[in-house]
Amino acid sequence: MTGPDSHPRVPVIAIDGPTASGKGTVASRAAAALDFHYLESGALYRLVAYLGGSDPVRDAAGLDVAFRDGSIILSGQDVTDHIRTEAVGNRASEVAKIPQLRGALLARQRAFRRPPGLVADGRDMGTVVFPDAVLKVFLTASAEVRATRRHKQLIDKGIHANLAALSRDLAERDARDAARAVAPLRPAGDAVVLDSSALTVDEVVDKVLMLFRKRNAGLA
Ligand code: DC
Repeated sequence: MTGPDSHPRVPVIAIDGPTASGKGTVASRAAAALDFHYLESGALYRLVAYLGGSDPVRDAAGLDVAFRDGSIILSGQDVTDHIRTEAVGNRASEVAKIPQLRGALLARQRAFRRPPGLVADGRDMGTVVFPDAVLKVFLTASAEVRATRRHKQLIDKGIHANLAALSRDLAERDARDAARAVAPLRPAGDAVVLDSSALTVDEVVDKVLMLFRKRNAGLA
């Protein structure tokens, strides 16, 4: 069984937030610091979008994916860079609206919950996938900061990017992710909302680790 209670004692840290809020970097660093497993749930939606099949629900149910040392292997092929493009991100946000597709990915996401613990990032980690997470963080940053960060990331990778177009796409994607009927982007009622606009990655990671230690000690 892979429901939320299949490993009730394995702690989960859920990090949700809008596009380019830095949640992926923060979540993977927090996972490394704690020696926990890491789930980048957005990659699953990106993989389905990348496949671009006529039946995305079936594609989601049958995904043959392995996460290996930061690389994402789809049916034996390394597709890490292919699924990181803005175009695939935008299409992922489209397919993510389909309730049956989200359902098809649920057990797969919950199966990542294995000892000694899991850090999971996405849009609905704290609200739907791991509602019993010991710590839920909703990571935000101003739209301007997020667009500038994403622009820098792309330019650093040698990918041409236009800041104004990027800002527009991010705003559209956030609006779509927040407006959908199923598992919309929103903080869980018991999430700690963290605005990273004026913080470094290290500062955010430290804050997450500090909150987790306090939770574990029953202090917060
Ligand atoms: O985190 P990301 O930018 O890689 O996610 C790409 C898209 O996938 C995002 O715009 C919406 C969707 N997504 C989702 O609906 N639920 C998640 N838990 C993660 C991603």
